[in-house]
Amino acid sequence: MPSPRLACIALWCVTAVALFGCRKTDDVAAPPAPAAAPAPAPKATAVRTTFGHLPDGAEVALYTLTNRSGMEVGVIDYGGIVTSIKVPDRQGARADVVLGFESLDGYVKNPPYFGPIVGRYANRIAKAQFTLDGKTYRLAANSGPNTLHGGIKGFDKAVWQSEPFAHGDEVGVALTHTSPDGEEGFPGALTMHVTFTLSNANELSLDYTATTDKPTVVNLTHHDYFNLAGEGSGDVLAHELLINADRYTPVDASLIPTGELASVAGTPLDFRMPTAIGARIKSDDVQIKRGSGYDHNFVINRTGSDLTLAARVEEPKSGRVLEVRTTEPGVQFYSANFLNGNTGKSGHEYHDRGAFCLETQHFPDSPNHPTFPTTTLRPGEQFHSHTVYAFSVK
Ligand code: BGC
Repeated sequence: MPSPRLACIALWCVTAVALFGCRKTDDVAAPPAPAAAPAPAPKATAVRTTFGHLPDGAEVALYTLTNRSGMEVGVIDYGGIVTSIKVPDRQGARADVVLGFESLDGYVKNPPYFGPIVGRYANRIAKAQFTLDGKTYRLAANSGPNTLHGGIKGFDKAVWQSEPFAHGDEVGVALTHTSPDGEEGFPGALTMHVTFTLSNANELSLDYTATTDKPTVVNLTHHDYFNLAGEGSGDVLAHELLINADRYTPVDASLIPTGELASVAGTPLDFRMPTAIGARIKSDDVQIKRGSGYDHNFVINRTGSDLTLAARVEEPKSGRVLEVRTTEPGVQFYSANFLNGNTGKSGHEYHDRGAFCLETQHFPDSPNHPTFPTTTLRPGEQFHSHTVYAFSVK
């Protein structure tokens, strides 16, 4: 036990250091300035500006969401496209970690699908058709014989109604859109609400709901191309990826699932331990050849229907980490196999493997695979899906 006198001296020292800081003796002549009141932490904000105008003159709004922890997210109401995500590295230096275009013109066509909400059916539907309740629906084919990401004019090319919001320390934007009955061949008018919420914990949360007036199929995702070293900084082959999946859905030559849920064990698709994206990407494995790299749906290991870890990615140099959690049964890991020739933000030339996508979703072509988790939505039911992109540093 220290004596009362020692304790008293120690208390005096602690108080003096707290009040005056550590000073050299030749500093002490001047009386210390009164301690400045700590600067108030800046507020989290959601600010609306004009991003651009579509060829028909319609205005497209940009919502810039900023939190109190140094993270900033840009979302436009055209396609619900995330145009930027700026997050700190382990030194606190911010970089934009999603690929995209400099202006609206690029996003109007957007062949790689940089950053939008994807629907009515994310990923592929074989031979652009499916049968529901005994009726066959023919869809727009836009990827060889198949329908990809909702067809020729998917939700990525719609102008959504938009409204910013602030709930305490969380800020965001709520988007609403109705896809008419028969659009791209899909039955039923589908009304959707998608909210983007940024928290002070550097988490971007996407919450989707949808209702229909006729039986239909729904599969919604968000198609961000991440590069945790910063967009335009090179390839992502050294990023360390973990996918929480023991199984995946193997594909045929046109990237349609065969229907099997195959084990990842002993294949280049085994990411159950963190592994560099590039470690096995040149493998002769038939699945990797078919995908021209990784372009596969993984069956997330889950025990209930709550948010569950889908994947975790770490960029060793910057220390940036992204964790993706979802209520969805699957996640498409796409290693950006067709990026050559796209000029992105700040004139950056993008190349194959310059990003990775982790698209949370139901399995591709589920309407033609009765054994897969169902994507059917009926009148009176509500579709609900929730995905969180959590950023941190290591
Ligand atoms: C698909 C790829 C496709 C890419 C861009 C991904 O979701 O799985 O096959 O090339 O999107 O459309």
